Amino acid sequence: MSDSVTNTEEKDSTPSKQSFQEVLKNFYSLYQKVLNGGSEKAVALHRSRGKLTARERIDILLDTNSPFLEFSALAANGQYNDQFPSAGIITGIGKVNGRFVVVVANDATVKGGTYIRETIRKHIRAQEIATENHLPAIYLVDSGGIFLPEQARVFPDKEDFGRIFSNQARMSALGIPQIAVVMGSCTAGGAYIPAMSDESIIVKNQGTIFIGGPPLVKAATGEEVTDEELGGGEVHARISGVVDHLAIDDVHALKICRDIVSGFSSSEKQPVNRIEPSEPLHPAEGLHNLALTDSTQLIDHVRVIEHIVDGSIFHPFKAEYAKTIITGFARINGYQVGIIANNGVVFGETARKAAHFVQLCNFRKIPMVFLQNITGFVVGKKYEHDGIARDGAKWIHAVSTSAVPIINIVTGGSYGAGNYAMAGRAFDPRFLFMWPNARIGVMGGEQAARVLVQIRKAKGPNGVNNEKSPEELFNEIKARYDYESSALYATSRIWDDGIIDPVNTRKILSLTLDIVAHKKWPEFKPGIYRM
Ligand code: COA
Repeated sequence: MSDSVTNTEEKDSTPSKQSFQEVLKNFYSLYQKVLNGGSEKAVALHRSRGKLTARERIDILLDTNSPFLEFSALAANGQYNDQFPSAGIITGIGKVNGRFVVVVANDATVKGGTYIRETIRKHIRAQEIATENHLPAIYLVDSGGIFLPEQARVFPDKEDFGRIFSNQARMSALGIPQIAVVMGSCTAGGAYIPAMSDESIIVKNQGTIFIGGPPLVKAATGEEVTDEELGGGEVHARISGVVDHLAIDDVHALKICRDIVSGFSSSEKQPVNRIEPSEPLHPAEGLHNLALTDSTQLIDHVRVIEHIVDGSIFHPFKAEYAKTIITGFARINGYQVGIIANNGVVFGETARKAAHFVQLCNFRKIPMVFLQNITGFVVGKKYEHDGIARDGAKWIHAVSTSAVPIINIVTGGSYGAGNYAMAGRAFDPRFLFMWPNARIGVMGGEQAARVLVQIRKAKGPNGVNNEKSPEELFNEIKARYDYESSALYATSRIWDDGIIDPVNTRKILSLTLDIVAHKKWPEFKPGIYRM
């Protein structure tokens, strides 16, 4: 195994000077590339073994015409010398026999389907989505376990490899069905995936399951044994009982899996307010003209809403008050939703209005859609004295304890505490997608550069890096912040559920609104709001 796969990063490919069309084109070209999986050679070898690719397996598993809501397709992009397309794992939600399932499929054409940090994060996030929405999980297993050169970054910690199996036990205890289809290697810790599933299937003369492979056995005990003898399909179906069904090939295994899903009973759903849907009056393509790459400008969310809601009808709440936040009701694909959309910097009254609206939606059990493009909270003596921190805290409280699902679309820059108040990733929105032009950072590159140069100057001559002029320092910091706040940087690290083309926003919201109603929402229990 080569150590050329260190976690190197590539240069930012979304400089702020690019037009939206250029940014979108770049996103699609990266996306097209990852659809191929690993190298041509690896794919050819994989096929020569009679195996289907991970994406073909998913296609066969899902119903014809089923949507496939894929998560984090560009995970690990720009890292590891780009040797891990999609981080070697494909995750998403689709339909099997008419019911939504979460699919987790290893891509064995990418370094033998082994796990780097991003692979694990995707796997765990898929399990979280299955749990939050009470959806069955199907694991299409074909993996050599941990990518060994990365072991120190992926093995022992709480959210590392072991979490996958601990999640399986917890999900099982919650009554979430899990099926493993072993279609290739399932080595070491990975052996627990089928062993901990409710039902498992293995492909004959192809799937193997063992805690330690033949080389390890030879080293440890001197015993010589082949893969098949140690942990092949016949062994596990007839001798060990680790699997329940023996399939003759991939297609057969997927058919068995579909049959099993057809026997699941449905879970208790959340009653929701839904009527016959109608299309927006404005075509989705219009969103391309609204998306901005200049993060100093704010997107026109009023117009965005017109492009995504049924009949382009929006009922504002407190339209005349605290105009830097838009709150109101609309329908998306017939579902009643509460929308919160940024429209400028956050003042105390903005935060209070938003907190009020989150409460309202929670008491009425209306799911929420957040459209996020926020520069942050207002600063200055007057505002601190007025208690901006107190008002912001109310909003963050409301969002953190929201019992109704929040589906979050980041349409532009999302900066500082504004990201928190708008239900950033740390606040458990049910789903979070980014437009390709979106940015996430503690502050904009320019502001950060100004602040840091200011701090160094304030320290006096000893605090200033004498080798660099303030201008050089400024440019360096700005470039770094711009790079680290791009949507590509964020999605590579699974800070979101994926980048989406704005034209698909309504489609994705409709799908996720369907999905979030699959489990009853808890009662709203707010904490103490500082008054
Ligand atoms: N860690 C790091 N790299 C690994 C790996 C691992 N666990 N398993 C496979 N790879 C790499 C190989 O070095 C090779 O890299 P390359 O493309 O740069 O040459 C690539 O993945 C494909 O592996 P290869 O063995 O050529 O493909 P294969 O399809 O014939 O076999 C496996 C795939 C997974 C069955 C086989 O590589 C294997 O058994 N790996 C070891 C599994 C193991 O013991 N894991 C324990 C870790 S918990």
